Amino acid sequence: MRIGRRALLLGAATAGATLARPSTPRLAITGEESVVRRLVAAERRIRVPSGDGPEVAAWTFADEPLPVIRLRQGERLQARLENRLPEPISIHWHGIRVPNAMDGVPYLTQEPVMSGQGFDYDFVPPDTGTFFFHTHCNTIEQLSRGLAGVLIVEGDEVVPHDAELVLVLRDWRIDAAGAFTPFTSDAAAAKAGTFGRLRTVNDRVAPVLDVPAGGDVRLRILNVDATRIAELGVEGAEAAVIATDGNGLPPLPLTSWRLGPAMRLDLTLRAPGPGQEAVLYDYFAPEPVPLARLRGTGPARPDRPFAPAALRPSDFAEPDLARADKLRLTFQTSAIASEIVLKDGQVLRLADNLCLSAATHWAIDRRSWPEQGHQALPPPLFELVQGRSYVIELVNATQYQHPIHLHGLTFQVLDPRQGAVGQRADTVLLGPRDRTRIAFVADTPGDWMLHCHIIEHQETGMMGWFRIT
Ligand code: C2O
Ligand code: CU
Repeated sequence: MRIGRRALLLGAATAGATLARPSTPRLAITGEESVVRRLVAAERRIRVPSGDGPEVAAWTFADEPLPVIRLRQGERLQARLENRLPEPISIHWHGIRVPNAMDGVPYLTQEPVMSGQGFDYDFVPPDTGTFFFHTHCNTIEQLSRGLAGVLIVEGDEVVPHDAELVLVLRDWRIDAAGAFTPFTSDAAAAKAGTFGRLRTVNDRVAPVLDVPAGGDVRLRILNVDATRIAELGVEGAEAAVIATDGNGLPPLPLTSWRLGPAMRLDLTLRAPGPGQEAVLYDYFAPEPVPLARLRGTGPARPDRPFAPAALRPSDFAEPDLARADKLRLTFQTSAIASEIVLKDGQVLRLADNLCLSAATHWAIDRRSWPEQGHQALPPPLFELVQGRSYVIELVNATQYQHPIHLHGLTFQVLDPRQGAVGQRADTVLLGPRDRTRIAFVADTPGDWMLHCHIIEHQETGMMGWFRIT
């Protein structure tokens, strides 16, 4: 904690609880307000599903397996990371427009945080919304073992909700005894990826969560799984999409919404009457999978039309579409990549080498960046000029889906997807052979990652970086 700042020490808030406003002690010191958190990455034995499952040797950032950090817009986050794990780690603040040095990408923006060492993350998140944080090092294993948390920046509600729930979707790759099953395989990495056996919401299986009967409830839904794409829908209640990746949009009645890894969806839901239930489903499965049940409690509220209010938009520079530079990125399999950059920086021409690295399956613009070689930086995919507007066409030349994430900025999705107009996001899901255009102003200088957030795709070639100067 720094002198001269008003510090706010956050009490432990867990995603599992119905999060109204947590009462947090505020120490009155003069100056700016800070939220101070110590995140101690360590192995912790937790029960999965929480409460009654077998013991799992999870890797987490805190004693509560899914720490939730809440800030009000304008507050500073001072997060001290300590690494008590046997391997290097880092923290990436997904979707937050941080200064580049706080972005948490080993070799690109900081040194990896070695075992026994620490790192101080310190920034003021500029935008409100639902975000998360995760390791960016050996991500398939570290994320699968649990290294993630939620970051919420409050201040976007014009009309307050009656209650709020944070719902974190993730699979656990564990067997019935709680032992981890393989996080990846070569065959799966070349396809849709490795799925966990146990599907959870807030580390529970289809939990029953109380909501105020007839009230308007904000659901902050986060897909932090490394692989699974969910198609979310609600039965037994009306609901509207109010934000994507934390960014408000004109409320859109929810039919269903496809949520890839790393994507977030905020809903306003009219809670069912006393004792009644609404069910959140994933329809992207042979049989709809119930993810959570929302049970109305307390006295019924008077009937009134369901008219969710729009969130207050964040303050983004509007891209100048007429003058924007146009770029295109093609996501493909490495089988048609013309060259592969190896970990020692050597460039392999495919014609010269029939034996591709067993662990390289994917490419962006015919280039792969193998995970083992994070430290051997390939050249940037493109270089952008700070303050200028860009439109990037993202082309999926494969038959798989890819949630494409850009670090460091929030983009506008130009081609309406899933019925949403004026959508802003940091991750956009491309369907097979799909394409879409995104637009943004290159506002923060630095070196930023761009990759598929199906982590096995990322780690087997579908990642790159770009520079803003
Ligand atoms: Cu959540 Cu590099 O990403
Ligand atoms: Cu992918």
